[in-house]
Amino acid sequence: MAIVEVKPGVHWVGAVDWNVRQFHGATYSTHRGTTYNAYFVQGSKYRALVDTVHAPFTEVLVSHLKNLGDLSKIDYVVINHVEMDHTGALPHIMELCPKAKVYCSQRAVEPLKQHFGDLGWDITPVKTGDTLDLGGKTIHFIEAPMLHWPDSMFSFIPEDKLLLPNDAFGQHLASSQRFDDEVDNAILMDEAAKYYANILLPFNALVARKIKEIVDMGIEFDTIAPSHGVIWRKDPGQIIKAYQNWSTGVETPGRVSPEVVVVFDTMWNSTEIMAEAITDELSALGYNVNLYNIGRTDYSDIIREILEAKAVVVGSPTMNNAMLPSLSSLLDALKGLRPQGKIGVAFGSHGWKGGAVPQLTSLLSEAGIKVIDPGLAIQWVPSETDIEASRDLARKLDQALKDL
Ligand code: FEO
Repeated sequence: MAIVEVKPGVHWVGAVDWNVRQFHGATYSTHRGTTYNAYFVQGSKYRALVDTVHAPFTEVLVSHLKNLGDLSKIDYVVINHVEMDHTGALPHIMELCPKAKVYCSQRAVEPLKQHFGDLGWDITPVKTGDTLDLGGKTIHFIEAPMLHWPDSMFSFIPEDKLLLPNDAFGQHLASSQRFDDEVDNAILMDEAAKYYANILLPFNALVARKIKEIVDMGIEFDTIAPSHGVIWRKDPGQIIKAYQNWSTGVETPGRVSPEVVVVFDTMWNSTEIMAEAITDELSALGYNVNLYNIGRTDYSDIIREILEAKAVVVGSPTMNNAMLPSLSSLLDALKGLRPQGKIGVAFGSHGWKGGAVPQLTSLLSEAGIKVIDPGLAIQWVPSETDIEASRDLARKLDQALKDL
């Protein structure tokens, strides 16, 4: 992709990764790829590069920078966040412009050395309130710890009303286009929500506090240029409002979200029959329900739906006195993400001996989900009575949802 001018003298010089399908190991499916956004800022006196790209895309970044002039004359490299998708190209960039000074948060200094070795870079730690004058453009630094790492920070250029928040407000969305008004808004917001659910959910309180802090600082911006996905220039308020909503448990305005997410695995269809009975009953009661067989849906997609759901229902047969391992990734992830304000319940069929339902119930509780009932465990193939019990479990959930 060609370089793109974001603001006069500020260019996108990043890379598009069309084909990445997993992120953070195998924890996050990136069906639509991603981008690694880096920005070149030309002041009247000095030139700065804000963030770099994932190492395999180093030559793309170098090529973009060469199009903008003599790469060795970059004066500053701002590192808003140490994670390798934004710093992988840094060692090579520093070889090409060895006189550049690196600006980063205090918390990033040691991790940078631990990632790349002590290469003798001139590193200046900065904190909220510190600035870097490029001549006609000033980079203001705003620490943003835990959005999403302790070292994370935002850069802000008031002359351009441009916020560069690194991972925050990003989306894993590869596109030939660079701006929000050039892509489908429903897809954009869905990817932004999945990103929030899988990366920022544990930091709800910090997200809400940081947004309030930025509002209270009175900084004026009309463009938000994150490190992944497209740049918010048409309506940056849309993603700010969405983050305010998601961090406080409010669903995306205009989106019809599932109120209940039912997730199960099954061996010989007995637990699936229960899942369908629960879903049917909830649907008959008027709820919008999403039903997932965990074996056929990536769990990071399910977590995206749980973000805006009120209830989570999980089911598993029992094998070796325990739930099927296929549910583990989802429940382990939820334990780390700790979605707030949700209720849940478990169900499952077993053969000779049970064990899955109490285990699922315990894991829901560990994830901070309020369990409304000990759950429903039935033996072998569901009878008419068992199916009615499954429907009754849905009715209990209905009552609990009404009592919220
Ligand atoms: Fe996109 Fe935390 O790295």
